[in-house]
Amino acid sequence: MSDHQYSPAAFEPTLSKRFFIANGYELACYQRDGGYQALRSVLQLDPNEIITTVKQANLRGRGGAGFPTGVKWDFVPKQTDKAKYLIVNADESEPGTFKDRYILSRDPHALLEGAAIAAYAIGANDIYIYIRGEFTKPYTRILAAIKEAYNAKIFGDAVMGTRFKLNCHVHRGAGAYICGEETSLLESLEGKIGRPRLKPPFPAIVGAFGGPTIINNVETLACVPLIFARGVDWFLTQGLPHNGGPKLASVSGHIKRPGVYEVPSGYPINELIELAGGVWKGRQLKAVIPGGSSTPVLVPRPCQALADNAPQQKVTSFAPPQKSVEHWPLETQAPLDFDGIKKVGSLLGSAGMIVLDDTTCMVRVLLNLAEFYAHESCGQCTPCREGTGWIAKMLRRLEIGKGSHTDLATLSDTVTFMTSTTICPLADAIAIPARSYFDKFKDEFYEHIGKTCWFPDAEIAPSGNTTWED
Ligand SMILES: Cc1cc2nc3c(=O)[nH]c(=O)nc-3n(C[C@H](O)[C@H](O)[C@H](O)COP(=O)(O)O)c2cc1C
Ligand code: SF4
Repeated sequence: MSDHQYSPAAFEPTLSKRFFIANGYELACYQRDGGYQALRSVLQLDPNEIITTVKQANLRGRGGAGFPTGVKWDFVPKQTDKAKYLIVNADESEPGTFKDRYILSRDPHALLEGAAIAAYAIGANDIYIYIRGEFTKPYTRILAAIKEAYNAKIFGDAVMGTRFKLNCHVHRGAGAYICGEETSLLESLEGKIGRPRLKPPFPAIVGAFGGPTIINNVETLACVPLIFARGVDWFLTQGLPHNGGPKLASVSGHIKRPGVYEVPSGYPINELIELAGGVWKGRQLKAVIPGGSSTPVLVPRPCQALADNAPQQKVTSFAPPQKSVEHWPLETQAPLDFDGIKKVGSLLGSAGMIVLDDTTCMVRVLLNLAEFYAHESCGQCTPCREGTGWIAKMLRRLEIGKGSHTDLATLSDTVTFMTSTTICPLADAIAIPARSYFDKFKDEFYEHIGKTCWFPDAEIAPSGNTTWED
């Protein structure tokens, strides 16, 4: 199976290049493709030069928030007596997201090289990889890759013959979604209960074991060697000016070929759906969750914000005509990049796209998500601890035909009270999408009052290009 069949013609897959090659995860294969040459070259540079280059490449964090990676690295104090740390966030627990596990199990050296460059740039001598506890193959593959890297003197007391010392440790999580949140991850890494910390101080100043710490997502770090191996200009051509580089998208749900697809940042959602074979069983698209479960849902309806941003015709003797509604692009044609998708009121998140066909009950979808967030709340903040549970309870009542108009009003109030009132964004991760479900499927929510849900049982999608043993 080739990765090329999953990528647009004019775009060269690089992040997924070795995903479908036998033994693509081994050091020999990675080095045959020029692997670790980027690390060798950056070891000759001043760390500030590396940070400047990453800033110029406009690499933005792939963990969800899209924060500029070079800017984050620059926050780490240059003069400090404290040990600094580079942490790889390999927790990947956001429902709908399964791209990092591919890098970990199919191209682990790309991650290790990126992590080594990041560590050198910020002045860290230790890398911690915090990996989701349920991952088995990614765990064994990353351990094997680290061993290969030590044997090849890529890690150890003299990285590639230089005076730079670098060690790499792996820490397994225990299956808590909240431990993907960076400060909760730090608590867990230090052996405590995984509960988010108040910020500030930010981890770049006070992080792991009290030292300045950078936490980056797996895919973010796997992008870093590409910047140095191929150059900033090339990296920018693989995405948008303010959002450089390629993007891995996980596509699942009611789609013909679910799997991980590599596309340029800014690739339109509807084209990605086509790339993955389109909506399954010849059905119609009802909705798309574009960036993982915590992102507002999009529907195939005309969107003026996208029309307004379409390139205008050149004005000659006449002003260009206003676009009428029937010529507006659909919300589901929004670009998959951090800024573009905000224009349609959603978020790129971790680019875990869930496609929903016209047989889907949207109350049940939201109920499913609410139960997940209620289960995963760490319980520190009242709006989150109580709110997530109440949302789930009221949606459950609605789904079985026992909901009332009062429940709908209380649901709406609960969501409002939960938004932006908590220590970490987990409460927002259900409250903000919930608002989009209420707004876009209002009739469906009202029709559930006093009526048992009439939608068919959910159907399980086939595995497509994903091999689930990963
Ligand atoms: C509830 C919650 C869960 C998160 N889970 C993950 C995760 O599994 N993996 C990840 O990389 N980032 C996750 N994040 C984002 C991290 O807190 C952090 O922003 C990210 O690892 C930074 O890396 P980046 O700058 O490379 O994106 C989560 C955030 C929240 C609020
Ligand atoms: S918002 Fe929820 S998960 Fe986050 S700290 Fe508060 S209670 Fe914990």
